Amino acid sequence: MDSKALRKISYGVFIVSAAANEHKAGCVINTLEQVTSSPMKLSIALNKNNDTLRVIKEAGTFSAVVLKEEVELELIKLFGFFSSRDTNKFETIPYQQDKYNNPYPVEGIVAQFSCKLCDTLDVGSHIICIGEVTDANLISDDPPLTYADYHLKKGGSTPKNAPSYQEATMGYQCTVCGYIEESENLPDDFICPVCGKDASYFRKL
Ligand SMILES: Cc1cc2nc3c(=O)[nH]c(=O)nc-3n(C[C@H](O)[C@H](O)[C@H](O)COP(=O)(O)O)c2cc1C
Repeated sequence: MDSKALRKISYGVFIVSAAANEHKAGCVINTLEQVTSSPMKLSIALNKNNDTLRVIKEAGTFSAVVLKEEVELELIKLFGFFSSRDTNKFETIPYQQDKYNNPYPVEGIVAQFSCKLCDTLDVGSHIICIGEVTDANLISDDPPLTYADYHLKKGGSTPKNAPSYQEATMGYQCTVCGYIEESENLPDDFICPVCGKDASYFRKL
């Protein structure tokens, strides 16, 4: 088994979100896909530990946005490396609410969908949620961010809760956010590009 083969699978980068009982939650995912066209349905895979899954189940609906290629890395950092359990991710960013009152970020996106949760499938660490699309909005003709470009151009990393997470075998890993710098040496003045911690927070792999 060569796990590098999995890196040949293409994905986009998205933020799914919902609100229930006055609590807002949202997270970055790369696992959104259109699965049927009539009625139009999307699937998303969410880690069982993610607060966003709990809130989507409570709300029975969710919003999904497609991130654009030029999205600020800060948005991915906020939604991909912190939990809505203890961080109100919508406090510091401009957002709107869809017809179900689910909040979604308005900057750095090219499309937005509102969905009714119509099915779930337990696949072990993750739950696949099927959403029927009840609203779809094209926001911009700018190109969407691909998962490959997130890694290549933006130097992004993927935390353990993502289904596509792969354990790195060499380099230095940030013990706070999981970012991996794949290099032989780590300079003393190195700063984590994702969470901003200094070199002392890194462990050699
Ligand atoms: C590029 C990227 C892709 C990710 N893909 C997924 C995914 O498909 N499913 C998932 O459950 N988590 C994924 N994650 C991890 C979640 O975004 C992360 O665990 C988040 O902190 C969960 O926040 P929450 O507790 O507020 O839901 C991804 C993160 C990044 C940065």
